[in-house]
Amino acid sequence: MRKPLIAGNWKMYKSNAEAVELVRELAPLVTGLKDAEVAVCPPFTALSDVSRLLSDLGAEISLGAQDVYPEKEGAFTGEISPLMLKALDVAYVIAGHSERREIIGEDDEFIAAKLRAVLDAGMTPILCVGETLQEREAGGAAAKVEGQLEACLKGADGGEIAGMVIAYEPIWAIGTGKTATPDDAQDMCSFIRRWISGAYGEDAAAAVRVLYGGSVKPDNAAELMAMEDVDGALVGGASLKAADFAAIANFGR
Ligand code: PGA
Repeated sequence: MRKPLIAGNWKMYKSNAEAVELVRELAPLVTGLKDAEVAVCPPFTALSDVSRLLSDLGAEISLGAQDVYPEKEGAFTGEISPLMLKALDVAYVIAGHSERREIIGEDDEFIAAKLRAVLDAGMTPILCVGETLQEREAGGAAAKVEGQLEACLKGADGGEIAGMVIAYEPIWAIGTGKTATPDDAQDMCSFIRRWISGAYGEDAAAAVRVLYGGSVKPDNAAELMAMEDVDGALVGGASLKAADFAAIANFGR
């Protein structure tokens, strides 16, 4: 049975003090959830204080990072290693977010190296995949996602993929207020699971959690989460307000 994951991607929002404040507000709103696991991914500058606070509060919130560099240490000015994240009790690491692919220019090979490094450090990658509007309109959405899966997962085995999280995030739905319909989300999440079954076997496909991301809000979360192959959400904008994010995490109630 896959437990849905509701993960908040705070992007480049929230100072350290604001991040701590948001977690203080959020923690009591997401306790005792039976139907979902909750994670927050603050900016790197807030990870240390948020990690300490989560532990002090005994909060039922996992900690995630938004990115990582795929080396243990070295002369990589400005970068953060998986070991540094692991030392702060980070459990999840987002890799291959479309903003990093498009704005920073990350390619599939680099993202595959990140996945390898995150797995080797004992954390769980959240691999993001998704198509542009142009690709969707040209009928190429599945081919785009398939290509990303193939290239980004090639260094992992079935057992590792079983424990991973894959987030389907159509680029045209991110931060635009345009959500994929529940059927669109289901179609692609089910396509991802079938592809994993073909490439890595039934067991990996049955266990891997496939999330939907792109303008998830309190008023559309329940219908998206009700779809068979949608195992949670990666939430951007709506994760910045404790009440909204908690309402999404409480979709089962
Ligand atoms: P959004 O972002 O919820 O603001 O659309 C989602 C994401 O980029 O992960």
